Amino acid sequence: MSSKAKQPISSACMSNAIECKGALPTDGRGDAGLETRAFQKRLERHHDELRWLYMELYDNGDMFAELVDQMKRFFDDRPDRLKALDAAREEAGAWYRSQKMLGMQMYIDNFAGTIAGVEARLPYLERCRVNYIHLMPFLDTPTDKSRSDGGYAVKDFRSVRPDLGTMDDLAHLAQVCHERGISLCMDFVMNHTSEEHEWARRARAGEGEYMSRYFFEANQDVIDRYGRDVPQVFPTTAPGHWTYLPELGQCVMTQFYPYQWDLNYKNPRVFNEMMYNFLYLANQGIDIMRLDAVPYIWKQLGTNCRNLPQVHTLVRMMRMIGEVVCPGVVLLGEVVMAPVEVVPYFGTVEKPECHMLYNVTTMATTWHTVATGDVRLLRLQLDAVCGLPKEYTFLNYLRCHDDIGWGLDYPVLRRWGQEEVPHKRYLNDYFQGYAPGSTSRGALYNADPVTGDARFCATTASMCGIEAAGFEGDAEAMKVAVRKDLMLHAYMLTQSGLPIIYSGDEVGQINDYSYRDDPEKADDSRYIHRGAFPWGLVEEIDREGTVQNRIFLGLLELERIRCDDPIFSAEATVFTKDYSDVSILWIVRERAGKTLHAVFNFSDREKTIWMPERSEYTDLLSGERTELASFELPAWGFAWFEL
Ligand code: GLC
Repeated sequence: MSSKAKQPISSACMSNAIECKGALPTDGRGDAGLETRAFQKRLERHHDELRWLYMELYDNGDMFAELVDQMKRFFDDRPDRLKALDAAREEAGAWYRSQKMLGMQMYIDNFAGTIAGVEARLPYLERCRVNYIHLMPFLDTPTDKSRSDGGYAVKDFRSVRPDLGTMDDLAHLAQVCHERGISLCMDFVMNHTSEEHEWARRARAGEGEYMSRYFFEANQDVIDRYGRDVPQVFPTTAPGHWTYLPELGQCVMTQFYPYQWDLNYKNPRVFNEMMYNFLYLANQGIDIMRLDAVPYIWKQLGTNCRNLPQVHTLVRMMRMIGEVVCPGVVLLGEVVMAPVEVVPYFGTVEKPECHMLYNVTTMATTWHTVATGDVRLLRLQLDAVCGLPKEYTFLNYLRCHDDIGWGLDYPVLRRWGQEEVPHKRYLNDYFQGYAPGSTSRGALYNADPVTGDARFCATTASMCGIEAAGFEGDAEAMKVAVRKDLMLHAYMLTQSGLPIIYSGDEVGQINDYSYRDDPEKADDSRYIHRGAFPWGLVEEIDREGTVQNRIFLGLLELERIRCDDPIFSAEATVFTKDYSDVSILWIVRERAGKTLHAVFNFSDREKTIWMPERSEYTDLLSGERTELASFELPAWGFAWFEL
């Protein structure tokens, strides 16, 4: 930190940043005046800390003044209806924590072709009870799919991929969604741009101003040091951290794919411009910004370039900028890291960073539990999450668009005799269907021949055995597979936090192997679970007894119960119960004198379950009250009993 930045920040300096640009009226008149006062109040609340952090990082008062000016400009541009939504959300508090929230993530083209198509399909999503839609990357990206990383290589942060529609379509969709009580999430890919982004093109042409927005390096020693200190993101599909550009005789940093150039947040111009992009997108009506790959945004030679303190400074600044301009907008951190690295992204209660984080370790540990039939690690993980302040909201999911990385608590597993490399090998074998008892199907991802490491890709349904049972025409196996699929969803819905369904899972969509025939996708096995949405299967939902009918209606019922019963409130106390059988997961929720016993069977055998006391319980699924001392739980079944 520079000594200059350490100086206490006087109110004179604050008014400088605001009033010298003539942005704020001293006395607001009418609604505009009222709104401006709300902005001013919020700015006053955060200004000193924001300026302190900004100066600590950049020591550049002019750029800070520009940032504040632009914040006011974006606030002025923010449509009135969004300002009204901001006010209502500020009043309501953490709106995204409601037990009534149910999310779905989807690719626009896979689901409905275009943004307008998604709008036309809203009735279907409402039928699914979805009130939060995560639209996978839709900003302009190279048309060559092998250079777009599924849209995570952004070419222009202010325009929509032409085949999906326009920015106006997006704003319209957001408006229609808001009228129906649905919120919209998008990816804010802030770590890198596509090599086709204007900044990258100008940098490649040798314009210094634009080169300074990325990391260029000609010194082989430095390049080698990064190679030694920094782990690889895509060790087989995109090894290395640098890409050589012959026209410049230098390398540019590319931690992800070679066509994704890492942005240099040491340059305040990058931070400011990316914040303007953020505010621009928020003003289109986006409610939740998923901060893509956020742990990677600060690089420092000699470190592993992950989760550095400056990353937290940047996220904290983003949080404040959002709270000043668009306080209804939520930051969702994509922090796919070890648990100790994840939680700090919530910040502190006084100085929060992200509103929500992915419950990534729980997700991976869930599948470990499916493969091992041993719930001990999952219990430790769930209890660790439940021990955190209730304000810390996690996004729960079984599957997403990415691979499953086996980021488990290996020190604990080692104590139980399970070593990392052989255990990962077992998990990957199991989910490919090679291990005894496995009915899963799927593909490895980034299998690293050097470390023996590999991740895994498949849809939930394929991992649960629906694909195998369907292929073999085995009705009995299908029964178990559907039960497993529903049990896992019930388990996800039992947890506090925001549950997200991966589009297609509600109708049991299986793996799509066609990516292997497409040269632009063949190298990236994540496309196995990014298939086109099977609208044909939706027609099966209402046909009694079909797989789709059983999964879809089963899920709907679970979602309805979760939405209506106060036991699922985010305020409930949640913990796991020690039960004498390692394949039984028992989650307890307590709220207002009521107790929910949620019991899940992670094994291929039926089990007799003994309740803690003989008593009269309500079976939430049937609605019946029965006196119970014990009950039979089928293989991969679950029960929700409330006392
Ligand atoms: C995130 C995305 C992933 C993408 C990466 C690079 O991890 O989830 O799909 O490849 O960021 O942007």
